[in-house]
Amino acid sequence: MKIGIVGLGYVGLCTAVCLADRGFDIVGVDLDGRKIRMIRKCRPPFYERGLDPLLNRAISTGRMKCSNSYENLKGTNLIFMTVGTPTLRDGSIDLSQVKASAEGLARIIKRNDRFPLVVVKSTVIPGTTGRIVKPILEKQSGKHFGSDFGLCSNPEFLREGSAIEDTLHPDKIVIGAEDERSAKALISLYTSYYSGAVPPLVRTNFAAAELIKYANNAFLAMKVSYINSVARICEKIPGSDVGKVAQAIGLDSRIGRKFLEAGPGYGGSCFPKDLRALIEFSKTLGATSPLITGIEQVNRGQVQHVVSIARKMLRGLRGKRVSILGLAFKAGTNDIRESPSIEVISQLLVHRAKVIVYDPKAVEDTRRVFGRRITYSPTALDTIKGCDLCIIMTAWEEFKKLKEEDFLANMKNAAVLDARRILNFDEFSPRVKFTAIGQGGRINRT
Ligand code: UDX
Repeated sequence: MKIGIVGLGYVGLCTAVCLADRGFDIVGVDLDGRKIRMIRKCRPPFYERGLDPLLNRAISTGRMKCSNSYENLKGTNLIFMTVGTPTLRDGSIDLSQVKASAEGLARIIKRNDRFPLVVVKSTVIPGTTGRIVKPILEKQSGKHFGSDFGLCSNPEFLREGSAIEDTLHPDKIVIGAEDERSAKALISLYTSYYSGAVPPLVRTNFAAAELIKYANNAFLAMKVSYINSVARICEKIPGSDVGKVAQAIGLDSRIGRKFLEAGPGYGGSCFPKDLRALIEFSKTLGATSPLITGIEQVNRGQVQHVVSIARKMLRGLRGKRVSILGLAFKAGTNDIRESPSIEVISQLLVHRAKVIVYDPKAVEDTRRVFGRRITYSPTALDTIKGCDLCIIMTAWEEFKKLKEEDFLANMKNAAVLDARRILNFDEFSPRVKFTAIGQGGRINRT
């Protein structure tokens, strides 16, 4: 079976190499020529655990071919649309890539008599597949949905850093279909891909499948904003710790332990953008919810909160040397999109602090944002040398090994703000001015 993938970002490329590894012939299309050249040379355009060997195999066996032309999709039976859906200035979703790829696919459908199936995996607001993609495909190909070509909505739930693992073992598969033939074709692909052990399958219509993706991400983001709100309360109660609260409430099986790590707020390419799109979309329906808008407000406040703790700890930031450990929006990726760390650095610069940064993977991308306005360090210990404050912004494993002595020996004044809560508060004596998000009681004690 020959499968096309349009858009070779995280979702597209990870899906492509996993399918190629199971013996499917893959044709990848992306308009970014640089990306295509890198992929052809087996060089992943971004860091993702486990991607390297799979990409190598896919390209070297010839199972995956890629180009920047839709023409190469000729002869594919099924095409995944995995293009980006960024945010417009007003917070609503930018569907230009979805529309452009639907137009490109219509040209392929026009010359294909074998019932090609288009599967929309991009995260799109409810109504997009049925009211935007379908009419473009029909109008521009002159063919009919249901009889000449098929269409499904099939959102993905991959996390960066474990995208391969999530593709191989997803919690669920959601299929939005409005004709039997399309649904059967997609279910049959997944049945053969998962060799009989198909994950739980939820079948519904286009719009509900599209909404499920937003509802899923908003719920997870809500857990993060919720625990960050509880963390604020903990910070006001001497001796209390949000970690204990999260541990205890997480033991209630109705709540669950995951996504209750308090910190500097969620970032990345999905949560912030999807929340904004959901809020704007619900406005158009006259169905706004203070709960959903509150998730975003709380999140925005977290970066501000980190900066204000830093200001208090140093009694002002002007001229102070502040080291930032971690730039990526979470550990396990080099992605700095909407990273709280990048926001915190911007704020520190506004307050005229001198900023020194380190991240095991994300320095190059950060350099493109800040250039010479900040200093880049080769190691964590180099970063904190001579500094007045160290802020831990990403939960990389190597930062978890830092000890009180490391800060005392290297910093000008040993002060640590653990925004990710990865160090053990109890292991720090009052010789280090130590505070963590969600940790009550010590900030005034030192
Ligand atoms: C997310 C969804 O998990 C995934 O299903 C969807 O397809 C894409 O968006 P991802 O953006 O890769 O995946 O990251 P995720 O691991 O979900 O974390 C999102 C953000 O929330 C990160 O900034 C992370 O640090 C933060 N987070 C997560 C917390 O602050 N606390 C937590 O307990 C969990």
